[in-house]
Amino acid sequence: MAKTQFDRHRRLRNSSVMRRFVRETDLKVDDLVYPLFVVEGENIKNEVSSMPGVFQVSLDHLDEEVEELLSLGIPSILLFGVPKEKDEVGSGAYDPNGIVQLAIRQIKQKTDQLLVIADTCLCEYTSHGHCGVIENQDVDNDKSLPLHVKTAVTQAEAGADIIAPSNMMDGFVAEIRKGLDESGFKHIPIMSYAVKYASAFYGPFRDAAESTPQFGDRKTYQMDPANRLEAMREAASDIEEGADFLIVKPALSYMDIIREVKNQHPVPVVAYNVSGEYSMVKAASLKGWIDEQAIVLEKLTSMKRAGADIIITYFAKDVAKWLQNK
Ligand code: PBG
Repeated sequence: MAKTQFDRHRRLRNSSVMRRFVRETDLKVDDLVYPLFVVEGENIKNEVSSMPGVFQVSLDHLDEEVEELLSLGIPSILLFGVPKEKDEVGSGAYDPNGIVQLAIRQIKQKTDQLLVIADTCLCEYTSHGHCGVIENQDVDNDKSLPLHVKTAVTQAEAGADIIAPSNMMDGFVAEIRKGLDESGFKHIPIMSYAVKYASAFYGPFRDAAESTPQFGDRKTYQMDPANRLEAMREAASDIEEGADFLIVKPALSYMDIIREVKNQHPVPVVAYNVSGEYSMVKAASLKGWIDEQAIVLEKLTSMKRAGADIIITYFAKDVAKWLQNK
């Protein structure tokens, strides 16, 4: 028998105030983390060619960045370092006076209104561009761990509010947790890059951070984009080892993973809207092919709908401005 009655879904869409009233997901400035590349040297503000609007900045430009974030109400910054010198073991990453450690101290001296997240990795500091120590042409897991621990501890000593290890070694959360606890940093949370895929979407970041691997790729430590169950195992290990936040990265192509991680783990889930996702939008909008603001707000809202509580994005400043004008 044909159905004579049907649901009137459009009733709840019939005015903008009604749509506001029934909206399920809200993107807020409090959700945002702004990634910043701090570079050794003086008076540097270099635009990254593949990421228009994103700059490598030296410490003498850091205060301006911080003031801008504060004025926009953005609660958090994620720091990446670009050192002058690199070596086999990435010693710049755990130098107490390394570029990120100096940047953290400088920000902390200026304000307590900005959460400083330190990316804990070696790839920007190693001559070969890999995220650990090389043995037999591959990254040696257990030899790399102590260097990641040292990096995290020096970042905490400098005043980092959150440690975000992105190296994808097995056991990195357990070891870093232990290292932080033993050094008096029991109170410092770990935001783990728990689910990090070996993704082509990181290409522009590697220009910005000057961290392209000099041989091979990262597929023996970052995950295969085809895998879902493995992501659940990665997330479970990190929770077991003491992670306080879980990052899923990249975001856009991995919305299913964001949702599943959120369903399984009652911790804040972080989506990393990565460099390639940024560059694609920028390129198309510079060509006049898309409406940048509408596209970015739609994408980030979708990440929240998928289950992200927090979003790391190079668009953070733009989004904060757009939300103010809404
Ligand atoms: C370091 C690191 C990377 C990103 C964040 N931390 C690069 C990589 O693994 O090659 C990528 C971020 C982005 O693409 O925006 N391990």
